[in-house]
Amino acid sequence: SDFDRSYQTYESMVEDALSCTRCDLCETRKNVVVCDGTPDARVMVVGEAPGATEDEMGKPFVGRSGQLLIRLFGEIGISREDIYIANVIKCRPPENRDPTKDEINRCGAFLEAQISFVQPKVIVPVGNFATRYVLQTKEGITKLRGKTFARANSVVIPTVHPAYVLRNGKRAEEDMRKDLLLVNQILEG
Ligand code: URA
Repeated sequence: SDFDRSYQTYESMVEDALSCTRCDLCETRKNVVVCDGTPDARVMVVGEAPGATEDEMGKPFVGRSGQLLIRLFGEIGISREDIYIANVIKCRPPENRDPTKDEINRCGAFLEAQISFVQPKVIVPVGNFATRYVLQTKEGITKLRGKTFARANSVVIPTVHPAYVLRNGKRAEEDMRKDLLLVNQILEG
């Protein structure tokens, strides 16, 4: 099936994603948002789906959420260039609605390939959708954030979504800060 498809090269995965018509989101997207950063990165962030700014620019986490996320990574000495950034869903859902199960299943082969080519030391899924996909669980982010999990050769450390931090202020921001300190600790260890 499409889901099991594996790619010979990283570049062929990117090329396939850029012309993808596996779901209806291809009809409303402006750009496919595959990733940002180098596949050599030691840390990978996984978000939910592109928003309006990301759809416009063709890059993940370049809007308000992205600015917050990158600022907090900056506080622990990790810059945007150090991070491989991807989303579960590569195309913007209209009105930023939640991705459907069907969209997630059809798009999953890309993230699977990204994780297996990058083999990051640490994967940081942000928010419920990314955490549930990366850890293949139905458990929620509140219970999972700030803990370490194993996935293949990577350590997974879920944290809250930056959009949630933007809505919820200081306390949520402190949660993300704490989780990123753990990320740094694992990266240095
Ligand atoms: N929110 C996400 O989950 N991903 C992005 O790329 C931007 C906002």
